[in-house]
Parts: sequence; C-alpha cells; structure tokens
Amino acid sequence: MDTDRLLAELTAFLRIPSVSTLPAHNADCRAAAEWVAGELRRLGCREVQLVASETHPVVWGVGPEVPGAPVLLIYGHYDVQPPDPLDEWRTPPFEPTVRDGRVFARGAADDKGQVFCLLKALEACGHTPVNLRFLIEGEEEHGSRVLFELLRREPERARADVVLIADMAYLAPKWPAVYTALRGLCYAEITVRTAKSDLHSGEFGGAAPNAHEELVRLLAKLKSPDGKINIPGLYSAVRRPAKRELQAWKRLPFREGDFLKHRVRAKALTGLKRYSVLERLWALPTFEIHGILGGFTGDGAKTVIPAVATAKVSLRLVPDQKLKTVERQLVAAVKRLAPKYVEASVKFLHGADPAIVAVTHPAFKPLDQAFREVVGRGTVPARAGGSIPVVTALGKGGAPVILTGIGLPDDRLHAPNEKLDLGQLWDGIRVFRRFYELLGDMKGA
Ligand code: BES
Ligand code: MN
Ligand code: MN
Repeated sequence: MDTDRLLAELTAFLRIPSVSTLPAHNADCRAAAEWVAGELRRLGCREVQLVASETHPVVWGVGPEVPGAPVLLIYGHYDVQPPDPLDEWRTPPFEPTVRDGRVFARGAADDKGQVFCLLKALEACGHTPVNLRFLIEGEEEHGSRVLFELLRREPERARADVVLIADMAYLAPKWPAVYTALRGLCYAEITVRTAKSDLHSGEFGGAAPNAHEELVRLLAKLKSPDGKINIPGLYSAVRRPAKRELQAWKRLPFREGDFLKHRVRAKALTGLKRYSVLERLWALPTFEIHGILGGFTGDGAKTVIPAVATAKVSLRLVPDQKLKTVERQLVAAVKRLAPKYVEASVKFLHGADPAIVAVTHPAFKPLDQAFREVVGRGTVPARAGGSIPVVTALGKGGAPVILTGIGLPDDRLHAPNEKLDLGQLWDGIRVFRRFYELLGDMKGA
C-alpha cells in the first residue's frame, strides 16, 4: 500500500473546511463534493452527478456494471461539524497533522476519513467486484434535508441489495462492531419572552419578570436531578432491550469506571442510576441543553433584565419512540411548565426517528469474515448512542443496512483534536477491499 500517496490525498480532502451548518462555508462544501465526485470518476463510475439544491449537493455515483453481482449502496457524508473552540486544538482543525500515527483534523473520523477508506478500498481492488451506487451527502450534520427530499422524489436512487455505512467506530481497539440500533434525535429551540423589551434592572428589578430566570426554571423542570425527563408520555413508547441483548452487553469490552476516567473525564457519571451506563447511552432517551442565548454576555457588566431568552436543546430518541410524537410531547410540556405570564415557544430545527437494524442477513457474513481475516476478530453487534438521520429511509426498500466503521472510541468526534488512527485506516482499506470481493462472490445477494 502506498501510504505516503494515500496520506497526501486524505490530507487534501481534510483541508477543505466543509462545515455544513455555517453558510460562510457553502463554497467549501461544494469543493468537498467536487473532491468526492473526482474520486468517483477516477474509480470508473459510469455516472457521477452533484444533485444540486439550494444548499449542499448530494454526490451520486453509479459504478461499472458487474453482471450477476449484487448492488451495493455506499452512504457517507463529506460535511463536518464546526471546529470551535479553536484554541483547544493543538494544531488547526483544517491543517491535518500526523502525530504518533494519527491524523488530527476535523472530519478525520467523522466522516471524511471513513468515506476515504471506502473509496480507497475499492481502488485497491483494481477492478470493481460489485455493482456500486454512491450517495455521499453534505448535510448529515444538520439533518440531511436535501437527501431526504431526494429520496422522497426519487426513491429508486436507494434501490440496492445491500447498504454500507462506515460512520461509526470499533467498540474498543481490536473490537470491530456492527450496529443494531441508532438513537433518533429531536433538536429544538425553546424561546421564552417575558416583556416587550429589555428593562433597567434597578428601575424594574424586583417587580418585572426576567426571561433568563424563567427559561432556566423551565429547563430545570424538564429533567430531575436523578436524570428522569419530565415530559408526560415520553417514556411510554420506550421498549426495553430483550434480556438476551442486555446480557450480551455485559460481555462487551466496556467498563463503566474506564468510561468515566478516560472518555468522559469528569468527576461522576449522571443519569438514571438503576440502568447500566450502556443502557443509558444506547436504549434510553436523553434531554440535553446545548446552549443558552440572550441577555448580556459581552465584556464587562450591563444591568439589564432580558426580555427574551432561547435555549438550544435536543432529545435523543430510542426504539419505539417516534419523532412526531416526541415533538408534540415537548411542546405540550413546555406550555404546561411555563407560567401564564410567560410566552414560551418551541421551534424544531431537525430530527430523526430512531433506527433498528437486523444483522441476520447473509450480507453481514462477508464483513465479519473480512474483519476476522484482517484484524483477527469478527464484528460484534452493539448499539450506538448517536444518530444518522437517513438510515431508516435507506432501509425502507428492504436492503440490509450495514452500520460499521473504523474509528476508535477516543476519536473525539465533534470535539477539539478529532483524530483517526492511521493503523485503523490501513486495516480498514484491507477490510473493505476484502468485503467488496467476498460480497461480489455472493451472486445476487
Ligand atoms: N457519525 C455520527 C453519528 C454517530 C456518532 C453514530 C457516534 C454512532 C456513534 C454522525 O455524523 C453524527 O454526528 N450525527 C449527528 C446527527 C444529527 C446532527 C442530525 C448526531 O448524532 O448528533
Ligand atoms: Mn458521521
Ligand atoms: Mn457527526
């Protein structure tokens, strides 16, 4: 493997600051899409298209025809999360740097490095062993609106025998995984208004309502200190994993103490204590506050009573919760908890239903075998706490959705100093190359 050339190519891709949520980066997102399209053309795709839209294009590709072989749809995303806080990066997020056999850059693991891995594995085959379709999107990190719209208009784009997504991680070093469930997401802004405009806190303080005070009181009521979310009806659709599944999680390479000490790096874990940490991460809904806006946050002091305050929040959803239902439940809870003199409103930004994936289809065998040959251990089934909005839509046609990946649990997705271990990448290229070849042999899977 020509690792120097591969690293130079990966670096070029990672340099493009394709941050999908920030309009200032629209041209960069297009450049990243063009980069992917260029690779697809070099791989000999018959058809390569940037499916245009007002926002970031979906890169569509159709590989050379391989009579008798199954159709494999590869999904991934070229967009990345904003890199802030910038001063916590040891080297700048869009200047990929190798230290200790790892490449540090925003998108190194999520998901550009993994898309790169799937493409280079194909290149390594030297020929195309399966019928390929590509859907590489640029809006995964803020809700996949363009791709949802495309699949609704043209569902045949997702027609395939097998769907492959590498946007996840190993469970631990040397423990590759396939995922049986992803959590869904309900992202919202809760806004509270208490007066027509801001007021002098001396003239009015003591008698006038304060938007921030009302907002934090409301937020505090939405979740108890023990971790229980106080949204009526929220838990009624939550289905507890089967005993056998919970039992199997106990055998996974996961220690709650190590998780606290090395991954969370806090003083204690929180949440519903009567459930194991894995159950809290994989099979229970969450409510998180991401940020609070409004009032005075500049340098120095300003004595003001804010009239408006907004919180960005999200809930993670688990099987069998439904996004639409949870949206209604959240609005009802906010209205009920806000005092009469407060105007409270909820605006939804994006969301996704939770996904369940059966890993029994024969197409999971070649992946298991490929990992076994290259890494020395096959794939273990696990769940993930994160979300990939289009997974349910991609599985609608009945094709098995293989959710896997080459990341490691300490890759720091969405955080400063995101990285990808190069050993994982080189192994990954070997694994997926073998997977394509084995899948190609399964005539018409
Ligand atoms: N690759 C992640 C999803 C992921 C992370 C799955 C960790 C499993 C483990 C994906 O890029 C992601 O971050 N998704 C967002 C989706 C959202 C913005 C709609 C997420 O989960 O926050
Ligand atoms: Mn991702
Ligand atoms: Mn992500």
